[in-house]
Amino acid sequence: MAAHVFLRTLRRLFHGRTRALLSTDGRPPGNVSQGSVNICLLNRDGKPLWMSGRVGETLLNVVMNANGPVEGYGACEGTLSCTTCHVYLPSEAFERMCQPTEDELDMLDLAVGLAETSRLGCQVVLEPWMDGMKVKVPKHTADLRGLAEDGKMEG
Ligand code: FES
Repeated sequence: MAAHVFLRTLRRLFHGRTRALLSTDGRPPGNVSQGSVNICLLNRDGKPLWMSGRVGETLLNVVMNANGPVEGYGACEGTLSCTTCHVYLPSEAFERMCQPTEDELDMLDLAVGLAETSRLGCQVVLEPWMDGMKVKVPKHTADLRGLAEDGKMEG
């Protein structure tokens, strides 16, 4: 298969998948397959974004697979160095999820607007019981990588 045909096929596949993964009309996306989990992200402006991901994927992957509709989200691509993937979980979900690692807790301590149910989306792994879960994205965020490079995080 010629390279341009292969790339066009990939683009079509990806474009079709992306459309099915994101819904901005206040309802979960249709045509989701078995093993999928619908998550509602309340975006920085308060508008709901329904996204579909697969069990085992992180919340960060779900947002990225939906073409990153949340501004500035996931800047470090899940390497636990930015906090831009900070989210507020519903308290029931927060209680039910596995405990954050020490590394996640260290980063959360630096997150803007830290709350009792804060987690980092790159560490939230989708499970079947999360279907329909509503997650809030903080209004403000900061990419800590830039602050560290500028020396703004010191003392
Ligand atoms: S994506 Fe950077 S800490 Fe999660």
